[in-house]
Amino acid sequence: MEELKFIRPTKEYEEQAYEYIKEFNDYNSNINGVGGLKHYIGDYDGWLKKLEEDRTRTTIGDEVPAETFFLIRENDNKLLGIINIRLALNDRLLQSGGHIGYGIRPTERKKGYASYQLYCALEFCKEMGLENVLITCNKDNIGSAKTIQNSCGVLENEIIDPTNGKILQRYWVNVDKALEKGIEKYNNKLNIKY
Ligand SMILES: CC(C)(COP(=O)(O)OP(=O)(O)OC[C@H]1O[C@@H](n2cnc3c(N)ncnc32)[C@H](O)[C@@H]1OP(=O)(O)O)[C@@H](O)C(=O)NCCC(=O)NCCS
Repeated sequence: MEELKFIRPTKEYEEQAYEYIKEFNDYNSNINGVGGLKHYIGDYDGWLKKLEEDRTRTTIGDEVPAETFFLIRENDNKLLGIINIRLALNDRLLQSGGHIGYGIRPTERKKGYASYQLYCALEFCKEMGLENVLITCNKDNIGSAKTIQNSCGVLENEIIDPTNGKILQRYWVNVDKALEKGIEKYNNKLNIKY
């Protein structure tokens, strides 16, 4: 796999971030794990400020402490994916949202990027002291289910997704176990630059 980097969003990627959202819309794809970016079209600075608020939040209420990262391909500096990590669960997240939401832009799918991006996120989770993380996906979202299974996700149960009425799978990922597998797979080459 090419060189990839996993970074916090910066001003440099403003234009690309909006192109990313546009591509999802053009392909009529679900937008997931963008840390609210789709609600900040035209206000990138406001979005960066919101991310800072997410990052520095200390309370667990309707909103919880959270971080958002970009996956960037080094050779063309392209934004490939965005992932949002909730560092604590409230009742809603425990039931259906989980700790992590993510996406890969439609034109760059099925190249292993989601699996790599999730490993980077799990590395961050480990640093933040999370031992087990909950990741959920709709049962018919095969690409996402496989991404979670690639990280040794263990299916706890299936429930009705309160957001769309579909079957939702709830997986628990043991962070250490997943990272052990990831380190072997990626040759200890996760390129994480928080
Ligand atoms: C789900 C998503 C993140 C997968 O991204 P991706 O970069 O294509 O995933 P990967 O390339 O890492 O693929 C992981 C596995 O799923 C498989 N896969 C990916 N998309 C697939 C699809 N549409 N159908 C069947 N299998 C698929 C891959 O072949 C790979 O299998 P393998 O590990 O056995 O080889 C991407 O489709 C996406 O952004 N979807 C919209 C947002 C979304 O649904 N996010 C998840 C919310 S729970």
